[in-house]
Amino acid sequence: MNLGIIGSGNVGGTLGTRWAQAGHQVTFATRKPDSKEMQELVAGAGPTARAASVQDAAKAEVILLATPWPATEEIVRSAGDLSGKVLIDVTNPLLNLDGLALGTTTSGGEQVAQWAAGARVVKAFNTVGNNIMADPRFGDRLLALLYCGDDAAAKKTVHSLAAELGFDPIDAGPLSQARLLEPMALLWISLALKQGLGREFAFQLLRR
Ligand SMILES: NC(=O)c1ccc[n+]([C@@H]2O[C@H](COP(=O)([O-])OP(=O)(O)OC[C@H]3O[C@@H](n4cnc5c(N)ncnc54)[C@H](OP(=O)(O)O)[C@@H]3O)[C@@H](O)[C@H]2O)c1
Repeated sequence: MNLGIIGSGNVGGTLGTRWAQAGHQVTFATRKPDSKEMQELVAGAGPTARAASVQDAAKAEVILLATPWPATEEIVRSAGDLSGKVLIDVTNPLLNLDGLALGTTTSGGEQVAQWAAGARVVKAFNTVGNNIMADPRFGDRLLALLYCGDDAAAKKTVHSLAAELGFDPIDAGPLSQARLLEPMALLWISLALKQGLGREFAFQLLRR
């Protein structure tokens, strides 16, 4: 699969590297293709990875959006025509570490879908830390990975990309469910950074 990574930082760098190492063609978008950081990222991801512009990465069939929220609208609008693309939205609309810039009656995921007109947006991976994306193993159980979106085929693609990384992907419903998944990320952040839990934990879904 051709994957474009828009926002090649903690999240994009981690997920893009893992997918490249699994054999996918990965294009990391960056403003600094010649930086030492980017060259190391591409070298670490392996021969199926390369660095390019946002517009170039956006040509891929599946795009991962992992940009800081304040920069997201401008980046998405600069990406070109995204109609028909599977757009995996990992962003969290953080105001700071204390709150969300929007929510309850809408969500960052729904806002991204408006900016990226015609894209098939799936909210995913936003409730786990990038350290957990790098290694989701907690003993023998697979870790639940909640995702939501309005396009069944796009969700199927995201489901299989998450399963390849060792998650137990769970369809949480339509894109409006991002209204619930984004506050969940804020809960994770507050427990990790303010309540002293650190980053080595994740929310699990138990069934019986
Ligand atoms: N970190 C986590 O554990 C985590 C987990 C779940 C969700 N999220 C969400 O995922 C998103 C990305 O988080 P992150 O931790 O990966 O962020 P990050 O490390 O800061 O990476 C963001 C990347 O976006 C690119 N970028 C392009 N235009 C930018 C601009 N105008 N300003 C700043 N950066 C720009 C930068 O790449 P270049 O400099 O190469 O262009 C940068 O590496 C956020 O919305 C965050 O809330 C994060």
